[in-house]
Amino acid sequence: MSPVLASTRQELADLLAARRVRGERVGLVCTMGALHEGHASLMRRTRAEIGPGAPLVVSLFVNPLQFGPGEDLDRYPRTFEEDRALCEAEGVDVLFAPSVDEVYPGGRPQVTVEPGPLATILEGASRPGHFAGVLTVVAKLFGLVRPDVTVFGEKDYQQLALVRRMSADLCLGVEVLGGETVREPDGLALSSRNRYLDDEQRRTALALSRTLRAAQAAAAEGLAAAEAAARTELSRSPGVDLDYLVITDPSLGGLPAEPPPGTAARAIIAARVGSTRLIDNLPLVLGPQVDQGPSRLSPQEGAS
Ligand code: PAF
Repeated sequence: MSPVLASTRQELADLLAARRVRGERVGLVCTMGALHEGHASLMRRTRAEIGPGAPLVVSLFVNPLQFGPGEDLDRYPRTFEEDRALCEAEGVDVLFAPSVDEVYPGGRPQVTVEPGPLATILEGASRPGHFAGVLTVVAKLFGLVRPDVTVFGEKDYQQLALVRRMSADLCLGVEVLGGETVREPDGLALSSRNRYLDDEQRRTALALSRTLRAAQAAAAEGLAAAEAAARTELSRSPGVDLDYLVITDPSLGGLPAEPPPGTAARAIIAARVGSTRLIDNLPLVLGPQVDQGPSRLSPQEGAS
């Protein structure tokens, strides 16, 4: 069945009121449209969390607040009919697609979310104001939909970390889960911005996932080896204008120079191919895998 379309806050509130009275868990997937299989996987994951009959809401809103001057706000792909069809195929109940005036009635809001120090590194350093814009609209969507659970893609790893942090620090009561990055068979992470790439740029863009995989493959030899392997792979890839490449801890706090064996880490890259800015990341475990020894039975399992 086609999702019910809500384009105003009132329509959304009316649609969700009855469901809330019935005590159903509400799930939300926030998007800017131009939906692809990565978004579909977030919808499936959210559905699995809330259960078959509960309301799954997808928001579709290209948020001007998170685009800087000279960024791609005007040319961001808008593909409403295809997006609606994907939502229908994924069993979405409500598609919330408001106008800019509906979300920001008085223009730019006076009160916005200050995302704190985590937003000053990586994407935040390259795109000043971006995460204040993201968190402000996500806080608004949380306020309008009042979801119990939401799933954000791990491809936007820093965004996921910040949304989690916001929900916890501001006691918003929304469970924020991460959904695994979906890739093309050749490794390219799915992104709405991949549509900007021509065939040659698309081939060039594969350098991002190759670089991360090189780091992953060398991670058993330690942090320095993983970093060196990633840099070597990248140096073989002309046409990639690197913004940053880091191996950091999973909460983005940085790593000691010599992390102990078994340390979990994340390799993260951002680069421009032509005029398209792409980001990607992969998990790593640094150093030789720690031998856990023979598995011990829990007291329950051990009881005869
Ligand atoms: O990841 C996105 O598409 C956007 O940043 C989000 C979370 C929908 C907020 O506009």
